[in-house]
Amino acid sequence: MIEVSDLKKYYSNGLIKKQYTRAVDGVSFHIEKGETLGLVGESGCGKTTVGRLLLHLIEPTSGKIMFDGIDLIALKRSELRKLRPRMQMIFQDPESSLNPRMKIGESIAEPFRLGLRGKICTHEIKRQIQDLIEIVGLNPEHVNRYPYQLSGGQNQRVVLARILAINPEFIVADEPTAALDVSVQAQILHLIMNLKKDFGLTMLFISHDLEVVRHMSDRIAVMELGRIVAVDSVKMDDCKRSV
Ligand SMILES: Nc1ncnc2c1ncn2[C@@H]1O[C@H](COP(=O)(O)OP(=O)(O)OP(=O)(O)O)[C@@H](O)[C@H]1O
Ligand SMILES: [Mg+2]
Repeated sequence: MIEVSDLKKYYSNGLIKKQYTRAVDGVSFHIEKGETLGLVGESGCGKTTVGRLLLHLIEPTSGKIMFDGIDLIALKRSELRKLRPRMQMIFQDPESSLNPRMKIGESIAEPFRLGLRGKICTHEIKRQIQDLIEIVGLNPEHVNRYPYQLSGGQNQRVVLARILAINPEFIVADEPTAALDVSVQAQILHLIMNLKKDFGLTMLFISHDLEVVRHMSDRIAVMELGRIVAVDSVKMDDCKRSV
């Protein structure tokens, strides 16, 4: 589903000297349909940058990204916009991906309102929203609340419901539980794993925590200083040593 070749993202350090931060420095990997690839590595090694590049949220310095046979980087803006709903990102801080002025119910309803699910009657939309709220384990009474009135874990559930409403095929989950209380982290990870299975999603799961990545992924890619230094599904001990 995803095929990345020699992907690079350099950030210029200053205006005068030609110095660059090599955030991503030539990574190549693939993700099969329905697979979860874990991306693990120390802080600053380039994990988030890879995630953003994959969804073409930022321009690569060079390299190629194929998404379901489509050359993502070569796409025109309008074509990319059409493709966008097929790939979504879950961020560390759920509040940052929710509109603070929108009630929870409105946030979940927005993809339907924008027509991302095609033409559906209001009654059916309501029913589907109810279903989504149930699937992610939210209390139906929460729909009339604003994000600031919910906990971090509840807001991440809202984010997940909203993403499911968009109905994507590919998800980048970037440390989706890092901002949450330890007591709810496991619940949200469990939910993400179930949703991935039930909805047949393909996923890039990013974390600095090898145990979490191992739990969530089919294969693991280990990053160091902008490069992938190991990809493996079985020899976890090697990954451990690299991290
Ligand atoms: N917009 C930017 N401008 C300049 N440098 C950037 C920018 N974004 C990221 N970087 C740099 O690129 C490198 C990789 O950053 P990135 O956010 O991808 O790391 P990360 O692995 O996700 O780290 P963390 O685990 O802390 O989230 C870092 O050195 C960072 O300072
Ligand atoms: Mg990051």
